[in-house]
Amino acid sequence: MDQIRVDVDRTLASIDRNIFGGFAEHLGRCIYGGIYEPGSPLADSDGIRTDVLDALCRLRMPILRYPGGNFVSGYRWQDGVGPVEQRPARAELAWHSVESNRFGTNEFVQFCRKLGTEPYLVVNCGDGDMREARDWVEYCNGTQDTALVKMRRQHGFDAPHKVKYWGIGNEVDGHWQIGAKTPEEYARAFLEFAKVMKWVDPTIKLTAAATSDWSGDILARVGLLVEQAGKLIDYLGIHWYVGNPTNNFQEYMAVSELIEDRLSAYEGLARMLRLQHKLPRPIAISVDEWNVWYRKRSEAGDFSNTLEEIYNLEDALVVAIQMNAFIRHAASVRMANLAQVVNVIAPIFTNPNGLFLQTIFYPFELYSNTCGTTALDVYWEGDTFSTNSHSGIRTLDVAATLREDQKQLTLYVVNRSETKALETAISLGDSAHLSGPVQAHVVNGPNIKAENSFEHPNTVGVSRGSLSAERKGFTYTFEPHSVTVLVCSLD
Ligand code: AHR
Repeated sequence: MDQIRVDVDRTLASIDRNIFGGFAEHLGRCIYGGIYEPGSPLADSDGIRTDVLDALCRLRMPILRYPGGNFVSGYRWQDGVGPVEQRPARAELAWHSVESNRFGTNEFVQFCRKLGTEPYLVVNCGDGDMREARDWVEYCNGTQDTALVKMRRQHGFDAPHKVKYWGIGNEVDGHWQIGAKTPEEYARAFLEFAKVMKWVDPTIKLTAAATSDWSGDILARVGLLVEQAGKLIDYLGIHWYVGNPTNNFQEYMAVSELIEDRLSAYEGLARMLRLQHKLPRPIAISVDEWNVWYRKRSEAGDFSNTLEEIYNLEDALVVAIQMNAFIRHAASVRMANLAQVVNVIAPIFTNPNGLFLQTIFYPFELYSNTCGTTALDVYWEGDTFSTNSHSGIRTLDVAATLREDQKQLTLYVVNRSETKALETAISLGDSAHLSGPVQAHVVNGPNIKAENSFEHPNTVGVSRGSLSAERKGFTYTFEPHSVTVLVCSLD
C-alpha cells in the first residue's frame, strides 16, 4: 500500500495566491473572439463575452498578464487607447497578423475589474524604448496634472488604474523575439527602464524577463542582470512549455523531474546571486508563462496556426503536476501565469455560439479554489515507475496545503499510473486531528487521451464524493490517470 504522511507542523512557506495567475495575449482568438467580441449576443455592453467571463471567474485568477508574449515586443500601447475609431491598425510581426487595437489598456483594465483580478502589464523592451515604458506607467497610475494623466481622464478614466505589476520585456533571450537582447543589452535596458518606471511610481513591482531559452546562457545572463539591477528586480521571470511529442505517457509523466530540476536550480541561482551582491531581500521567481504546448506550434515561416491546442486527460495531469511543484516551491515561486486563458493554449475554448471547458480547466479550478495559505512538507512512498532517463519516480505526485485558520488540510495527488488504482494510507502527525468526512474531488475520464469538445463537453470532468475518516487518518484509493484533491477538516 502507498503511504502519505502529513504533519501540519512541517510547514514549507506561505503560498502567494498569485501562483494561480493567467496570461492573455493579442494572439489568434485569445482577445478577439475570446475575451472580446462586440456585437456578439453573448457580449455585454463593453464587448466582453459574458460566458468567457463567467468561466474565467471560476478559475479565481488573482492576476492576469497582458498584452504579450511575443506580441508585446512590437506593441505601441498608445495605439490602443482613445476613441476606438481613431485607433490605427498595425502590421503585427510576432504572429504575422494585423492588430486592430480595438482592445487596449483601458479595455483590459476594465475587464480585470470585472474579473476581480489584478492587471499585470508587460512593457515593450523589444523595439520599444524606456520613454514609452515610463509613459505607460504614468498614463495608468499617474495622479498629477500631466499631459498623460489628462489624456487618461479624457479617455474616460478619472481615477488612476493603480497597476501594481509590470514586466520589462518578454523572452528577450530568444532569437524569435522582436528586438532579442544579448545579456549585456538586456541588463542595461532593464536597469534603465526599471529606474524610470519606479521613479514614476515607486510602488510598482517589476519582473525581469530572465529565462525562456533553457539551453541558452542562463548563468551569465541572469548573473549580469542581478549584478547590474538586482535591487530593482522583484521577480525573475521564467517561462516553460512542456508536452508529449513522442507520445510516451511515462516519459510525459516524468516531466515532474524536469520541473523540479528547473525550480530547484533557479532557487539556488537566485539565492547565490543575492548572497554575492548582498541584496537586502530575496528575489522571487515568477513562472509567468507555463502550460502544456506542443501540438499547435508554428513551423518556420508558417503562422497559419493560432495555437488552438485541444487538451486531453494526460495534459490535465501534467498541469496538476506543475501546480504541485509550485506549491512545493512556494518559498520562491511567488507568481505563476497559466498561458493562456482563452482559445490560445487555454482552458476555455469558444466559438461564436458558446464555449466548452478543456480538460486542463478542471485541475486549475480545483487547485485555485481549495489551496490553503501554507505549503506543507509531505512524505510519501510506494509504487514507482522508470523512464529512459529516470528510475524510481514515485507514481503518485503529491503536494499539501494548510488553511490560515489551521482548520483545513488539502492534499493534491496525481496518480500517474495508466492502469493501477493505488490504495494509499494517509496519516496525520501528532498535532492535528481530522474532524468529519473528507471531501474528494477527482478529475478523470475514460482514458488518458480523452478530450472535451463542443459535441462532448463532459468527457473529462470532476466527480465528487465524501468519505469517512478516523481521527488520525484514512485509506483512499487513487483512480488510475487521475488528479484528486482531498479536502480534510481539522480540529
Ligand atoms: O504563449 C505563447 C507564446 O509563447 C508567447 O507569446 C511567448 O512569450 C512564448 O514563446
